[in-house]
Amino acid sequence: MKTKVQVVFYSMYGHIYRLAEAVAAGAREVPDTEVALYQVPELVPDSALEKSGAKAARAAFANVPVIAPAQLAEADAIVFGTPTRFGNMCAQMRNFLDQTGGLWMQGALVGKLGSVFTSTATQHGGQETTITSFHSTLLHHGMIIVGVPYAEQRLLNMAEITGGSPYGASTLAGGDGSRQPSENELAIARYQGRHVATIAKKLAAKS
Ligand SMILES: Cc1cc2nc3c(=O)[nH]c(=O)nc-3n(C[C@H](O)[C@H](O)[C@H](O)COP(=O)(O)O)c2cc1C
Repeated sequence: MKTKVQVVFYSMYGHIYRLAEAVAAGAREVPDTEVALYQVPELVPDSALEKSGAKAARAAFANVPVIAPAQLAEADAIVFGTPTRFGNMCAQMRNFLDQTGGLWMQGALVGKLGSVFTSTATQHGGQETTITSFHSTLLHHGMIIVGVPYAEQRLLNMAEITGGSPYGASTLAGGDGSRQPSENELAIARYQGRHVATIAKKLAAKS
């Protein structure tokens, strides 16, 4: 039986999408792992997306299927990606999670692995608060939180500005969104995917 890892994200300008692909690639490196990439539904009106340039950016990953809340129950592990909004997860992700009350009532996510990655515009814009506040929802669902241990030595990189923390992978988009995820950040994201898939596989073998 294959272990099922879902990577579920929202991205407005593509930074989280790039990290999501890296997380998925890392998870795929683990034998007997089935990886599915999903995005959550958009809430912002088309006209506003058009104005901010997000419409063109989002076209690059329009092919990624939109997930329905009930599908989360199919996974052994779920890695969530959200850009920061004032130090918290984005409304699109919050809205999606607020539709998981039925799953919560059934205990459908209890014992599954949950892990989070993020993106901010600025260096101290709330990466850690976004991830750790996201963890509260996962804990209410009975999920087991997985981060990125310092065994991933790229977390110690002081030679450049970089995202990535023991809480999860991250990137810095820059004030105008022009900075793209660095190789260091993408490697940490791949590590996170691999780490989650490895633990999920071990848990599945013992159950
Ligand atoms: C309403 C709003 C609030 C934001 N709040 C923050 C913030 O608190 N800190 C920060 O560094 N960036 C903030 N940003 C910037 C986004 O986090 C950034 O655009 C995002 O991480 C880029 O990821 P994406 O390309 O996947 O959408 C905010 C953006 C918006 C639109």
